[in-house]
Amino acid sequence: MEEHGSGGKEVRYYRLSEVEEHNSFKSTWIIINHKVFDVTKFLEEHPGGEEVLREQAGGDATESFEDVGHSTDAREMSKSMMIGELHPDDRHKIAKPPESFATLVPEPTSWWSNWLIPLLAAAIVTLMYRMYTAEDE
Ligand code: HEM
Repeated sequence: MEEHGSGGKEVRYYRLSEVEEHNSFKSTWIIINHKVFDVTKFLEEHPGGEEVLREQAGGDATESFEDVGHSTDAREMSKSMMIGELHPDDRHKIAKPPESFATLVPEPTSWWSNWLIPLLAAAIVTLMYRMYTAEDE
């Protein structure tokens, strides 16, 4: 665990391995949008049931959390359970994309990747076919 302070506001960073250890009734942590939440005491109170939280315990629950479309109230509520953030070095280890990624407007794919690649593929196939049929003559 590392602490970084600036202007009195301290952010506690947890390594992914550390979060992974908290996957039991004794201590249940989940990650949402790179923030670490201790939901141990919240398990029984969660309107969506404790089962869903237990399934995500010790890991990243961003996708599931966002899929439900939690209310602003729920988001406010989660703040009281936030204990810190995932260490920046471990963020890439999380396969599920964070919210910002899901809501980003995708960049339009460039024309060449849409046209040139299939065109090249077609050209290669045609060439190979020609070579193949030429051998037979
Ligand atoms: C700190 C984290 C969380 C908090 C504070 C929280 C809070 C809440 C609250 C207040 C509701 C009631 C509906 C609403 O206000 O949106 C709710 C519903 C629900 N939550 Fe969570 N939740 C958390 C994490 C999760 C996670 C990680 C999952 C999924 C794995 C989940 C799944 C659900 C489901 C399935 C419902 C029921 C939705 C329905 O019946 O319409 N929640 N949650």
